[in-house]
Order: sequence, then C-alpha cells, then structure tokens
Amino acid sequence: MHYILVTGGAGYIGSHTVRLLAQSGYQPIVLDDLSKGHREAVTGFPLELGHAGDKALLRRIFTRYPIEAVMHFAAYTEVSESVLQPDKYYQNNTEQTKFLLESMAENKIPYFVFSSTAAIFGESHFPTINENHPQKPLNPYGRSKWLTEKILSQFESTYGLKYTVLRYFNAAGADDSGEIGESHSPETHLIPLILQAACGKRPHIHVFGNDYATDDGTCIRDFIHVNDLARAHILALEKMKQDQTSRYFNLGSGNGHSVAQVIKEVKQITGVDFPVIISPRRPGDPARLVADNTQITHLLGWQPRYNLSRIIQTAWQWEQHRRF
Ligand SMILES: NC(=O)c1ccc[n+]([C@@H]2O[C@H](COP(=O)([O-])OP(=O)(O)OC[C@H]3O[C@@H](n4cnc5c(N)ncnc54)[C@H](O)[C@@H]3O)[C@@H](O)[C@H]2O)c1
Repeated sequence: MHYILVTGGAGYIGSHTVRLLAQSGYQPIVLDDLSKGHREAVTGFPLELGHAGDKALLRRIFTRYPIEAVMHFAAYTEVSESVLQPDKYYQNNTEQTKFLLESMAENKIPYFVFSSTAAIFGESHFPTINENHPQKPLNPYGRSKWLTEKILSQFESTYGLKYTVLRYFNAAGADDSGEIGESHSPETHLIPLILQAACGKRPHIHVFGNDYATDDGTCIRDFIHVNDLARAHILALEKMKQDQTSRYFNLGSGNGHSVAQVIKEVKQITGVDFPVIISPRRPGDPARLVADNTQITHLLGWQPRYNLSRIIQTAWQWEQHRRF
C-alpha cells in the first residue's frame, strides 16, 4: 500500500483528492487543523489534527506510517484577507511549508506535490498563460505561494527532494456523488456565490466591473473541475516517481468563460432568474486568466473531463443538498 500524507485534506480540493487517492489504490492520511476544513469531508479516512508545519507531529506521522509522498493543500486562500493581514499568509503558507519540507528532509520523504496558484502570475500578458509567463503576484496570497515555489528548488538541490508544482486556475464543481463539495467561510468563489443567489441564500449576485476589454465587458476565468484537479495530482506523482524529475505545471481547462457567461449558464441549468448587480471593478482583478495547459496534457496525458455546464451541475447538486 502506498501511503500519501494529504495536508489540508479536510478542505475543498484536498478532500476530493483524498477520495480519488483511495479509489486509485493509495492510502491517504489527512493532516488538517480544521481552521477552514470539515471533519465530515474526510469521514472514514485517518485524520491527524494539527498544523502542517508542526515538526513533532510530522515526526510522529512519518514514524507511524510509511509515507512516500506529501500532497500539500494546507494554506489560507482568501486574497482580500491576505491584503489586510499579509503576515498571516506568509506565516501559514510559506513558513509552515518550509517547516514541513524540513521535516520531510529529516524523515527522508522523497516526493512533494504542491498546490500553487495562477495568482503567482499577476496580470496576464497573453491570451493564455503558460509556465514561462512572467511572474508578478499582485497580492500577499500570490506572493506567499510564489515564495514557496522558490524554496522548493533549494530543497531539491540540498536534500534531493523531488516536487511537482501544480498552479491551479479556478477550481469549481463538486464530487458527482453529492457527498462532498465546496464549503468556504466566507465564500469568495464565483460559482458557489452565484448558486447561492439561485437558491435564495443570497439576495443577488454582484458583478465587479462590466467595462473590461473582453467581449461582454466582464472578467474571463478558467474553471476547472475539482475532480480533474485531483486526478492531475495522482498523474503528477506517478510521473515524478517514474522519471525522478521535478516540474511546474499550469493547471486549468484551457477555456475561458466570462462572469456574464457563467451567470447565464447558471440561470439556464437552475431555471432560476435572480438579480445581478453591476458594481465597480475590484482592485487587483486581472481581466483575463486562462491556462495554457499544453505542458500537462502532453507530459502527463491529463485532459479535463468536465465542461462548464457539468461543473455547474455538480456544484448545483451540492449547493442544494450540502452536508457542511
Ligand atoms: N480553490 C481554488 O480555486 C484554488 C485555486 C488555486 C490554488 N488553490 C490552493 O489549493 C489549496 C486548497 O484550496 P481549497 O480551496 O481546498 O482551500 P480550503 O480552505 O478548502 O482547504 C485548505 C485546508 O487547509 C487547512 N489548513 C490551512 N492551514 C493549515 C495548516 N497550517 N495546517 C493544517 N491545515 C491547514 C484548512 O483547515 C483547510 O481544510 C490551497 O493551498 C490553495 O491556495 C486553490
């Protein structure tokens, strides 16, 4: 049995990956402090309660289980909070990760898969963003992840750690079972916010800016289903084990959808018309963020299996019957 430590495994993307790991024959061990995650999301899986950078706890976990790789999802993820409290983000996202990496080196754990983000790039200079796009993160959240990416190469040269960095674009959707899905507090992501307007949990949805240089004036984003993300982690781990090479991948569907298009699609799928309020632009929102996923499709044979409408359908099923 191959044991994988999944930090942040009780969170949104982590919990979907935990399930897929188990379905793929791995034994996931979850490490989460439940600051943002949900115990119910990992029912039936071993859960270690604590911080991802707690070296004493990590030593106990690495001694107890023959862990071969760490998938590191644990982080704070709210961009606007990071602007107000940057230290919180550098501490939890960068410093804690450094402690985790040190502990992996001390305990000779060879493989690391890291949840990075399109936010490391900042403004997009091209229609799609490939791995070589200039990196100018616009906020402390993006910088905390960017800094962690830099630390990783140091750990490879000093300790021989092999790593894969996956830079996600906009994760969305829920597991087809309807048993787990997205549940952030506060929720800041577009699709759950729109769906909450559709089911009356919010009075309306705000669209921040309709005067961008896009076809309909609203921002364009690349939505990728959470199970497509989860599958990429397993493919990345297997490839890394096979050829012992560290890599960076941009991970999105490769398709851009505007905020207005997403709202239209949600109205069609749910059959609900809800008020849409056009508000001023928010500072730091790039007009367009779409992945060039050529590298991951070629090297890992990964392809997205869910399109926007399937993403919304699964998220809608979850939103109506959510358990947490
Ligand atoms: N959701 C997205 O669209 C998106 C996009 C790009 C990158 N990411 C990255 O993916 C990862 C997962 O995001 P998510 O949306 O699932 O977030 P989430 O908040 O749902 O999950 C994060 C989990 O980590 C836990 N956690 C946080 N700090 C911890 C710590 N120090 N020790 C132990 N546990 C800790 C939380 O309790 C939570 O369960 C994050 O690293 C995030 O930066 C997410």
